[in-house]
Amino acid sequence: MSADDRQRREPAASPAELAAALARYRPLFGDVVDDWDGFIDALARPLATCIWSHPGRIDGARLAGLLEEQGVPAAPVPWLASTPGTALLLPPAFKPGQHWWYCAGLAHAQEAVSQLPPLLMDLAPGQRVLDLCAAPGGKTAQIALALGNRGTVLANDFAPERIAALQGNLDRLGVVNVSTTWADGGNYPAAAGPFDRILVDAPCSSEGTLRRNLSLVRKIGPERSQRMASRQRALLRKAVQLCRPGGRIVYSTCTFAPEENELVVADILAEQDGRLRLMPAPVSSRLPGLVSGPGVTRWQGRTLPEELAHCLRVWPHANDTGGFFIAVLEKGADARGLPQPEALALRLEPDDAAWCTGVAEHYGLPEPVEAAYRIQRQSRRGLHLAAADHAPPAAPAPQGSGVFFHRTNVRPPKLTTAGAQLLGATATRQVLDLDAPAERDAHLRRETLTPTPAQRAACHPGQVIVRHRGWPLGVAVLHRSGDLESLFPRKWSGCTAGG
Ligand SMILES: C[S@@+](CC[C@H](N)C(=O)[O-])C[C@H]1O[C@@H](n2cnc3c(N)ncnc32)[C@H](O)[C@@H]1O
Repeated sequence: MSADDRQRREPAASPAELAAALARYRPLFGDVVDDWDGFIDALARPLATCIWSHPGRIDGARLAGLLEEQGVPAAPVPWLASTPGTALLLPPAFKPGQHWWYCAGLAHAQEAVSQLPPLLMDLAPGQRVLDLCAAPGGKTAQIALALGNRGTVLANDFAPERIAALQGNLDRLGVVNVSTTWADGGNYPAAAGPFDRILVDAPCSSEGTLRRNLSLVRKIGPERSQRMASRQRALLRKAVQLCRPGGRIVYSTCTFAPEENELVVADILAEQDGRLRLMPAPVSSRLPGLVSGPGVTRWQGRTLPEELAHCLRVWPHANDTGGFFIAVLEKGADARGLPQPEALALRLEPDDAAWCTGVAEHYGLPEPVEAAYRIQRQSRRGLHLAAADHAPPAAPAPQGSGVFFHRTNVRPPKLTTAGAQLLGATATRQVLDLDAPAERDAHLRRETLTPTPAQRAACHPGQVIVRHRGWPLGVAVLHRSGDLESLFPRKWSGCTAGG
């Protein structure tokens, strides 16, 4: 059941119920944060929807313009100005997946506070990055795009069905510098390291998401938090091992519980005995305008080292968001590092180069596919494209690398929707523009259309890339009759614009 379905079916929690469920945090008010009533009131209010624009496909002002055409008010989030795209706040009930621009990979929906951790990772192109708990991948995509969609990001998760959702988002956003892996992050193979940056966006009791999922109010409590804490410590401990000396780890949760936040960080700092440093989160330089609070240093009789105040807490009533916790850690330059990993061997079959030449010729691409991408056959189904310099390790074996772009096990072989969206903006042949909104939406509903002779004048019968106002939507077959058969997938990364 989705969070939206849950919200419709379950009775909303009242402020009194919220206050009772969260009463154990009351002693923090007046110490690290103020305004208990404001905190409870904020949690009882619905949360604005937040999306970010894909920096490689559309700028924020243009995306806001598309929303304005639909009569949807969109306001930029000022403290997210350094995110690769532009973060826009939309009304709470707004469903991005129902809109064509989402299906075309021009934007991604991600709660505003959830966008913070990658912004504190000090990311730069060329870094090798691990996202240890990555699904469904909003932060992975932010990291990947902050690296310029080049180089090597590993995105790991423990839940196979969540890796499928993660891959769906990466396909829709045309992210080509990520390999996904399926492993218990607490036991992640050391053979994969070392990494310059690691994100541990840990599984947690999710109290900070109560505004989206009020039924959680009946599940949270100290026992649940204690249970999560041992897994969180194992994840953070592993991240320290996998990080290169001098590298950075960001640990984050969306919960208020100190047991899952400062106490986890304090335990790992103590274990590392000076080889790991908690850094002050660079809020004023990276997140100007964000109202944040310090980490908790006294909790239920335990006093933590004062440096734990360097952790960052975002309380829901401070910026009208969900709740979040972030710790930025640096591994000592003289700490022990791991040897460089063995690289995964590239798999290709003799015909594969010809498939790529065929795609480039059919669609009149300005340069050969292999000039810009690493091409790989990951299964009998067909070919994947990854960034030319993407270098996944041999272990753990990736579930997938880059995007699946060309299906070769069908007759005739076909460009996939992800392939069309990735390559279609620069295609010069076999491109058919569906600029009328009704035609665009019919294509997304997988309907067969009859374009005008003028629309199809530049195409001959066969496969075509369909575009809307220059943005590629996917693939269709133009029949000799003049009918255009949509090949838009029935399931496409949470998109329902096709009905
Ligand atoms: C908070 S969510 C991550 C959200 C994600 N970073 C994003 O921005 O979309 C935590 C994730 O950790 C995964 N997880 C839980 N236990 C894990 C483990 N032992 N190793 C790796 N991932 C784990 C869950 O399946 C879940 O997808």
